[in-house]
Amino acid sequence: MNNKKIAIYPGTFDPITLGHLDILERGSKLFDKIIVTIAVNQSKVPLFSIEERIEMIHDAITPYNNVTVEKFEGLLVDFATQQNACVILRGLRAISDFEYESQMALMNQHLADDVTTLFLMPNEKYTYLNSTIVKDVAKFGGNVEKFVTKLVVKKLISKFKGM
Ligand code: COA
Repeated sequence: MNNKKIAIYPGTFDPITLGHLDILERGSKLFDKIIVTIAVNQSKVPLFSIEERIEMIHDAITPYNNVTVEKFEGLLVDFATQQNACVILRGLRAISDFEYESQMALMNQHLADDVTTLFLMPNEKYTYLNSTIVKDVAKFGGNVEKFVTKLVVKKLISKFKGM
């Protein structure tokens, strides 16, 4: 019997931001292991390939020895069950996140009642941050160093240079 407390932290991560890392940092103190899970959101067309997103996440999670990254296509609760994870970790930044997040959490609860969604709040300085806004700023030459890792800054610059 495995008594380790495992959580998955799913998202599109296109790209990972310091807001995501804030949630991970908090989560890494609560769980034995966290699996950052690159999942598919049907309504998004990512800028970065899965491999690029894995590379950026790998680099960002180096300080944490209990955090790994995986990609997954399919139902999130199936992946959680496969990995013996009891928790789906999600960040709640503002009231505007609540409706979408509660819909997903309740659907996931309906699909697998033994997998619990746990919401953590990031530091308030990240409450307005999301991956789209970072891509927008970077696309038009703005400085995003305060919001993402050095590797992500580099990748954003080279991605938009080639467009
Ligand atoms: N700091 C900064 N930004 C944050 C953040 C934080 N702490 N937490 C979330 N965000 C941002 C993300 O950058 C993202 O921004 P974007 O919309 O501009 O790209 C947005 O908030 C939310 O995205 P994310 O957390 O990546 O989640 P998502 O909504 O893209 O992911 C899945 C949803 C992938 C988890 C969901 O579609 C899923 O579970 N898919 C698998 C299939 C499945 O099981 N479906 C049934 C679900 S009920």
